[in-house]
Amino acid sequence: MNGDKKIRAAITGIQGYVPETVLSNIDLERMVETTDEWITTRTGIKERRILKEPGKALSDMCTEAVNGLLRKTNTAADDIELLICATVTPDMVFPDTANIILDKVGAKNAYGYDIRAACSGFLYALYTASKLVESGAYKKVIVVGGDMMSSIIDYTDRATCVIFGDGCGAVLLEPTTDETGIVDAVLKADGAGRVHLHMKAGGSLKPASIETVMAKEHYVYQEGQAVFKFAVKGMVSAIEEVLARNNMTTDDINWLVPHQANKRIISSVGDFLNIPSQKVMVNIEKYGNTTSGTIPLCLWEWENQLKKGDNIMLTAFGGGFTWGALLLKWSYDGSAQNR
Ligand code: UT7
Repeated sequence: MNGDKKIRAAITGIQGYVPETVLSNIDLERMVETTDEWITTRTGIKERRILKEPGKALSDMCTEAVNGLLRKTNTAADDIELLICATVTPDMVFPDTANIILDKVGAKNAYGYDIRAACSGFLYALYTASKLVESGAYKKVIVVGGDMMSSIIDYTDRATCVIFGDGCGAVLLEPTTDETGIVDAVLKADGAGRVHLHMKAGGSLKPASIETVMAKEHYVYQEGQAVFKFAVKGMVSAIEEVLARNNMTTDDINWLVPHQANKRIISSVGDFLNIPSQKVMVNIEKYGNTTSGTIPLCLWEWENQLKKGDNIMLTAFGGGFTWGALLLKWSYDGSAQNR
């Protein structure tokens, strides 16, 4: 009987959004001292999308994704109870972007808040939301992960401007008892890693001033090599921990969905775990690193190929440091459901 079965949170729809403007490696060659060859071989990125329209912000991209998701899943905005937005590029310091998205999509019966865990933001938000659905508290929750990285990137710094892009993706979570849905996650944080990846000013430690602007302290600061090393180790160990405690091996995984930070990081994780490249979702060449947006953008692009019951491992590593891995059993045949 259904009443006796464990409730899990199932992803019942997914929708992504990327802005139209393409910033290619060739464009970047004209902006900073770099080459298409360097960017391609060191990162795997060929182009990224940039939200260029004046007056537009993260909430506008997320509103596009959420409106698409509501249409696709035949869900009325007023039926949404909670929306969690994972981002490090909110429209404003406050209120949370989740509130602004809810206003823009006309969801009058919901509340929402933001989660800031940089590149692991979507995993943190998805796991939090899944627990609220499993508990029986809510029946329709939206998790949207996205970033407008172009708003915090110094386009004269070749070490960072070639990597990041803008984009987002949203999922609908609903309860299910059919043994699909979000199964388990290992989420980690180590604040000592903040020295390697952060934004120096704009918070309470160093509020915005003429000096901070002149010193370019409102942009991403990243020590790429240090982050690279921790990223591979962190994602591999989180995946191994999730597999071990669910009595699974990598052979049981149908799809690995890694955060898209660098093609070389993704390949190292796949190789380390012996997961064939056909099972690893990679779209970094088109979108670059969209921080909280990479994982939902992958799931959205692969939706047609996903089958009910597929074991999917999501993994991420980023600023904080934050990292983790989340195991889910996909809840519908993507090709049939793609409305
Ligand atoms: O998503 C959040 C988490 N972030 C990450 O996971 C990022 C992890 N790190 C990386 O992906 C890589 O470290 C980067 C892509 C950021 C950099 O690649 P790298 O192979 O680690 O390069 P590097 O920083 O060691 O730099 C190598 C050389 C340097 O020149 P010298 O000192 O050897 O003369 C850089 O100045 O490459 C130079 N360089 C560039 N050259 C051409 C750095 N950026 C560029 C560029 N074009 N865009």
